[in-house]
Amino acid sequence: MNRILLAVAAWTLAIGIQAQNVRESILLDTGWKFAFGHATDPQRDYGCGTEYFNYLTKAASIHNEGPYALKFDDAKWQTVSIPHDWATMLPYAPEASHSHGYKTVGWRYPATSVGWYRKSVAIPASDLGKRIMLRFDGIFRNARVWFNGFYMGTEPSGYATQLYDVTEYVNYGGDNLICVRADASLEEGWYYEGAGIYRDAWLLKSAAVSVAPFGTFVTASLEPPFDKSFIRVMTKVHNSSLQAQEFTVEHRLLDAEGHEACSVAMDKSKSLDGKATTTTQAIMTIKSPHLWSPDDPYIYKVETTIKVGGHITDVYETPTGLRRIDFTADSGFLLNGQPLKLKGVNMHQDHAGVGTAIPDALQAWRIRQLKSLGCNAYRASHNPMTPALLDICDREGMLVIDENRLTGINDEHLRLLEKMIERDRNHPSVILWSCGNEEWGLENTVQGRRVAEAMRQYAYLLDPTRPSTLANAGGGELIKGTDVVGFNYILQNDVDNRKKAHPDWKIVGTEETTGCGTRGIYFTSDDDKTRMRSMNLEADKDSTFNRIERGWRFYDERPWAAGLFYWTGFDYRGEPNPLSYPAHDSEFGILDYCGFPKDEAWYLKAWWTDETVLHVFPHWNLQGHEGEEVDVWVYSNCDEVELAVNGKRLGRQQMPRNGHLKWRAVYKPGRVVATGYKKGKKVMTQTVATTGPAARIVLKADRTVLRADGRDVAVVTAEIQDAKGRMVPDACLPLSIRLEGDGRILGVGNGDPAYLGEDHSSKADCHEFSIPAFNGLAQVLVQSGRQPSTLTLTVSSGQLSKGTITINNKQ
Ligand code: GAL
Repeated sequence: MNRILLAVAAWTLAIGIQAQNVRESILLDTGWKFAFGHATDPQRDYGCGTEYFNYLTKAASIHNEGPYALKFDDAKWQTVSIPHDWATMLPYAPEASHSHGYKTVGWRYPATSVGWYRKSVAIPASDLGKRIMLRFDGIFRNARVWFNGFYMGTEPSGYATQLYDVTEYVNYGGDNLICVRADASLEEGWYYEGAGIYRDAWLLKSAAVSVAPFGTFVTASLEPPFDKSFIRVMTKVHNSSLQAQEFTVEHRLLDAEGHEACSVAMDKSKSLDGKATTTTQAIMTIKSPHLWSPDDPYIYKVETTIKVGGHITDVYETPTGLRRIDFTADSGFLLNGQPLKLKGVNMHQDHAGVGTAIPDALQAWRIRQLKSLGCNAYRASHNPMTPALLDICDREGMLVIDENRLTGINDEHLRLLEKMIERDRNHPSVILWSCGNEEWGLENTVQGRRVAEAMRQYAYLLDPTRPSTLANAGGGELIKGTDVVGFNYILQNDVDNRKKAHPDWKIVGTEETTGCGTRGIYFTSDDDKTRMRSMNLEADKDSTFNRIERGWRFYDERPWAAGLFYWTGFDYRGEPNPLSYPAHDSEFGILDYCGFPKDEAWYLKAWWTDETVLHVFPHWNLQGHEGEEVDVWVYSNCDEVELAVNGKRLGRQQMPRNGHLKWRAVYKPGRVVATGYKKGKKVMTQTVATTGPAARIVLKADRTVLRADGRDVAVVTAEIQDAKGRMVPDACLPLSIRLEGDGRILGVGNGDPAYLGEDHSSKADCHEFSIPAFNGLAQVLVQSGRQPSTLTLTVSSGQLSKGTITINNKQ
């Protein structure tokens, strides 16, 4: 069991106060047992629900034999760790769901769509009197939860954080059984959603009088010139005991170095009945606040201390960032009073080798890849994201649209909206609440506006500091009624005329097409209908603007628009539109399923960052096309670029703002050399040459030192190179992967949208794997073990010289 102590016991002792702060958040990531049940045959589902006195008829399962009963023997079950997505390990099949990437999960596959989890947790006798809770950040889906055989409840949505108060059910001084049944028969989205406990699970302990889970709401009021900020802290305090208690609350704002910036204390104590919750409010003032922004994501912490009878019972931390956001009708989005164009992408939680079970280190890596392209905004399409990812966005400086899964105003919808907002409203990264996406049945209807207006109002009651939006597909009539109008695709929405008719509208491009296809594919082939080439190369077929450019030009040229969110940042499983099986991954990403950049990544980097970019494509290994005329493209932010192909100068061209350049050349093996100029001076040269045959494998890791916590991950790229060290861009050789040391191969990938082989092993301690490289590259996710040690990863392929890298697991 990995114990993360959020408590600051050390601090309280250090300042000599009699400390009783007992807050602990214990990550329940290891030691789970897993087995398939059955979605349609109760006998193969351990008789669940069929018993005389089933779990809905009596509180305790003393009459039952199934997995929620204490006596059940799970010795033969598989040992797994959380996060866990069992669908990654299932095979593909042509009749399986297109949305879910043809994985054999869902209603057609009852034998692989229900998963049972069991875990035993020791809770010491000394915990008696504390408040004990279970928290799941996301289980896909329709999760039923039992604790010590007692039914805790059901959460239909795969995207809601679930909280269960188990205080009264605990076996203090002994073992306690957590049991979960997840049923992934139904889809909530039209994209791969995984299956099982795919987000973190926690055991929470706090004093009887303590801050409720997600119980603080910190808001900063900032006005120009931003030389001071009022900070309001609302705190929900809960008393889990049966007696009334008197308590006080104090807050300190700590800067990033832990120094106190300001503080406030309640002047009188307040009485709280047993089992009651109350909300307190306090205001602090800070001078010269260090503002939060994507370029400078400065994090303060509000430390809330609860005292009962003068003794500390709870110390609760709320990370926060001080910033002001405004959506305006004439200047788009303003951060801290300055217009900031949202350079965004849509993302699903899904990555090669792990599916939806993405460890935090990999989430952080994905955000860093996006930031390196100049991306500053992330739309969590189309569901609330995991809290761990929001922490990362706060720290890395990524603005977020957090989105409710289902649009509507009944319990089911509002409960989820409320859960999302109450959980996520302290994150400085979140700038908009989205009430939904492309609700075709609500567009063009009067009900659409009513529902949207009601949702906006509910969102406002929970958080008056942020506006709401809803992404429109673009029917005859939009869904009006939220604060910011979201447009999905300018091709489907006449945004200019809408704006002309409604000059007061605040507008954001919630989706915009990228036109990307498969990394490294430049020709359409009749033999291969599973790997599209980039549609950007077919600009003439569409309009004068090519696709990725069309969106950025449009939003960049209109100061009244807040910005845009491309569909999508990374490829994801499912929706391989317009293709179908055996293609199973979308090809919309600017980066592929592993996060390897497609050419379009350089288009964005050129226009979204100040770094000099000069990117030439296609690669020059176009065997079979000798003598054909091909277009050579350059993405760059140089003023002018000159191109030479096989020694022949093809001319120097001026780069249009937000554009690209193109030359026509006859393909013959050799080299293409691009030279970039800024203000007439040569600043960069890029050469793309026909490579020699594959000769060696080179491994590069994003990090070579990992925390020995069994969770950390290094993202390793295996690149196939020729003898001169050039990446061989069409090499698809089989790779044998071997890891030695205390760690495991968490998953592998290659970015091929039609790869039908395995990418995640069902073995908990996987040390060997094989996968072909795809167009020169493959990815290995290496997860640390718990012992400080050295890991050695080796990747080989036939006679090629092997790639080896060492990674250190440190305590
Ligand atoms: C959009 C939709 C996305 C995705 C995309 C595929 O209309 O909002 O979720 O399905 O189409 O092209």
